[in-house]
Amino acid sequence: MSLTILRHPDPVLRKIAAPIPEVTDEIRELAAAMAETMYRAEGIGLAAPQIGRSIRLITVDVTGPERREGLLTLINPELTPLPEAGYVEGEEGCLSVEDYRAKVRRYASVALSALDANGAPVRLEAEGLLAVCLQHEVDHLEGKLFIDHLSRLKRSMYEARLRKRLRNNA
Ligand code: NI
Repeated sequence: MSLTILRHPDPVLRKIAAPIPEVTDEIRELAAAMAETMYRAEGIGLAAPQIGRSIRLITVDVTGPERREGLLTLINPELTPLPEAGYVEGEEGCLSVEDYRAKVRRYASVALSALDANGAPVRLEAEGLLAVCLQHEVDHLEGKLFIDHLSRLKRSMYEARLRKRLRNNA
């Protein structure tokens, strides 16, 4: 099953997502549908608010939609930056932000604890693309998008372009 992905400026994307009290079959089914949706959209991460559910659930697979070898289903993720590893700046996009990519500065390495789809605790340390992707997806649970990390100038240029496109589509 493929779910509909909400786009900025949908207000659901701005809500702080609620913790998941129990990992039920419904949550597992939702996570599976999210993974399918993420692969179909050729994304490497998806957060539940992006499909209209304001709950703390993300799916990530940095091996991509072709290989599908690294699927992580993370429930109630708690992310801890490891600032001693420094920072990286890479170009990001988002399935909820159409036709736009921009450079964002992130921690190079993070630790994360969460529950998996079976409700079992997961702990991992990540660097590289996975570290960046986890920060991007956990941001979604705080109602934050990658465009919030841009400079004011870049952000206002992006918003002007978006307004123009929304006007042209109206
Ligand atoms: Ni995103």
